[in-house]
Amino acid sequence: MAHPIINIAINAAHIAGDLMRQELHKVASIPVTRKARHDYVTEIDKASEEQIVREIKRYHPDHAILGEENGAEGESDHVWIIDPLDGTSNYLHGMPHFGISIALQIKGRTEHAVVYDPMRDEMFSASRGSGAHLNNTRIRVSARPSLESAIVATAFPFRQRGMMSAYTGIFADVYRKIEDIRRYGAASLDLAWVAAGRMDAYFEIGLKPWDVAAGALLVREAGGVVSDFDGNDAVENSHSILAAPYKLMTPLRKIIEPRWAKVKR
Ligand code: IPD
Ligand code: CA
Ligand code: CA
Repeated sequence: MAHPIINIAINAAHIAGDLMRQELHKVASIPVTRKARHDYVTEIDKASEEQIVREIKRYHPDHAILGEENGAEGESDHVWIIDPLDGTSNYLHGMPHFGISIALQIKGRTEHAVVYDPMRDEMFSASRGSGAHLNNTRIRVSARPSLESAIVATAFPFRQRGMMSAYTGIFADVYRKIEDIRRYGAASLDLAWVAAGRMDAYFEIGLKPWDVAAGALLVREAGGVVSDFDGNDAVENSHSILAAPYKLMTPLRKIIEPRWAKVKR
């Protein structure tokens, strides 16, 4: 049975997801602000974060929040890490692939996670030690025996274009060894899809805690491994992420590490 606290995140994600679905067809008229070059925020990102935080605060007014749009709020050993709309660029272009990512960290460790895909009505959830689920069905990472037939998700470092040549080097080395690559545009769903075994692995550089906190727990609870390119587990505070089933992790690291070691960060 799901831990009761996860229901708060599930309800909050449903509320925010309803809003996204309702507004998607009006996307051309949604006000957009540019946060930085290649970085946009819509009224939907903001409204979604407000609704999620309101829902959490209804039950736990004392918990702290780390939200992409409003930053850090409050002090507590319980911190909710929220990406209210992951895949804003897709959303802005009317592409129906985006997610809502909510994680609860207790004393610095992610204990509960929800990633919701409102367009497919797919709720990915996990609590540490209880496995990962898609809606109510248990999910596991893929059992692909080798890289040769693997489909790997990734993304370009579009906000840090200075990292492009380092990234394309890694991309080329990985691409040579696998079946194919996908770039869907929502990091939380990339991780959720690795957890569900749809994608065999995923790597990216230049992410923030709210992009990966929930998805990393999903992959781990689905039996996979998540680390940064240097092998550290704390991907929420890192510059890079690699997620894969154990069998594919070692060969992927072997490909990525030598190039990454030469990158100035
Ligand atoms: C972005 C998406 C994208 C990934 C970026 C993220 P946002 O999040 O997850 O797929 O490549 O690194 O920042 O800005 O749409 O929430
Ligand atoms: Ca994001
Ligand atoms: Ca976002």
